[in-house]
Amino acid sequence: MSQLDTKSQAWSALFSEPVSDLVKRYTASVFFDKRLWQADIQGSLAHAGMLAGQGIISVQDLEDIRRGMAQITQEIESGQFAWQLDLEDVHLNIEARLTQLVGDAGKRLHTGRSRNDQVATDVRLWLRGEIDLLSGLLQDLQKALLDLAEPHVDVILPGFTHLQVAQPVSFAHHMLAYVEMFGRDVERMADVRKRVNRLPLGAAALAGTSYPLDREAVAAALGMEGVCENSLDAVSDRDFAIEFTAAATLAMVHISRLSEELILWMSQNFAFIRIADRFTTGSSIMPQKKNPDVPELARGKTGRVVGHLMALVTLMKGQPLAYNKDNQEDKEPLFDTVDTLKDTLRIFADMMRGITVNREAMEAAARKGYATATDLADYLVKKGLPFRDAHETVAHAVKEATQRGVDLSELPLDVLQGFHASIEQDVYGVLSLEGSVNARTVRGGTGTERVKERIGAWRQKLA
Ligand code: ARG
Repeated sequence: MSQLDTKSQAWSALFSEPVSDLVKRYTASVFFDKRLWQADIQGSLAHAGMLAGQGIISVQDLEDIRRGMAQITQEIESGQFAWQLDLEDVHLNIEARLTQLVGDAGKRLHTGRSRNDQVATDVRLWLRGEIDLLSGLLQDLQKALLDLAEPHVDVILPGFTHLQVAQPVSFAHHMLAYVEMFGRDVERMADVRKRVNRLPLGAAALAGTSYPLDREAVAAALGMEGVCENSLDAVSDRDFAIEFTAAATLAMVHISRLSEELILWMSQNFAFIRIADRFTTGSSIMPQKKNPDVPELARGKTGRVVGHLMALVTLMKGQPLAYNKDNQEDKEPLFDTVDTLKDTLRIFADMMRGITVNREAMEAAARKGYATATDLADYLVKKGLPFRDAHETVAHAVKEATQRGVDLSELPLDVLQGFHASIEQDVYGVLSLEGSVNARTVRGGTGTERVKERIGAWRQKLA
């Protein structure tokens, strides 16, 4: 029987009674951290390979460990592995099974290692893989937004400030705003990844170890970019997990803002878009309803991810060096953050590609709120008026149009000339939605040519 078969034996003869069942359940993490099994085995194999390379264990031991781990992999993948609560966590479960399978070689694996540096390594390896997946999903969402933007470069909707009609913008330009946001999310993920991808192994419990470990070799075997340079820091800080969750939170916040717009836009009052039926649901009582459940849930789930960020920051803030069991609580928030963001990104990429744009409704709304008033002011400035005077002049014109219940572009020329003599027939060009949008040729502006350029640049970047 292996020494790790029951928990009371795991910690040696020092303990006079086993922990109660309640304490066992309270302290165990295996039911959630078993998710780290692949990283755990990967880390163990790299550690064992290095131990053999340094002559700390024999080549025969290494072969036994590899054989045992291959068998364990197969057992876990096929669902036959018997996870035991008594063995507390993923690390002890796998080690106990290894020892059962290969005997003493299994007991030698933990030489120069502690679960403290082991778990920190596992979480980093696992998270690195998830970051790569998430970056791909963020980029796919960017592509979906480009797919939606491209055919709608010349569709105009009102741009809002304070949710009041402000100036006309191209629908594609509006979508590209989100492409930029998700582009920064991709950058943040890449930046966090560099700090996630460093090796704690070798720190052992907290102080390092007296075995002649080759940490650089382990880091290289695991594809890590460096080693953690202080053993106390290596086993204890979870700043990399916090940083990742902060990046994930921002991505969710971007999705939440987009959700809010989709919800408004598909309401009857806007009627700017339709979302494919597979993303909406009906009401059990009101037969006419089609509800935007997916964007609403995404907006709601953003709160959950923000909560995980708070949980992790709070988890860390009071901890003295070095490892404390508090850190076992890092996993569930981290796992749920990854799962939530992953599902949301996948569903949004699909949903954005299925949106139908109602050009007429958007353009009618843009014509309603005197969205081209700034263009009239700019027109007068080009005729020589100081901007502040032009601004005041246009305010009078808007007042007149409001009283007549018409748009600025519907005021006759002689009426417009009453506000300023320099106004000529060409004013109607700048008062149209197209004229307004296309005048904004500044870099980053909504002018059609600029928007097309930016779509092209993103297409190239994402190719
Ligand atoms: N399950 C533990 C965790 O998630 C592993 C490390 C345990 N180390 C310890 N000294 N109790 O953090």
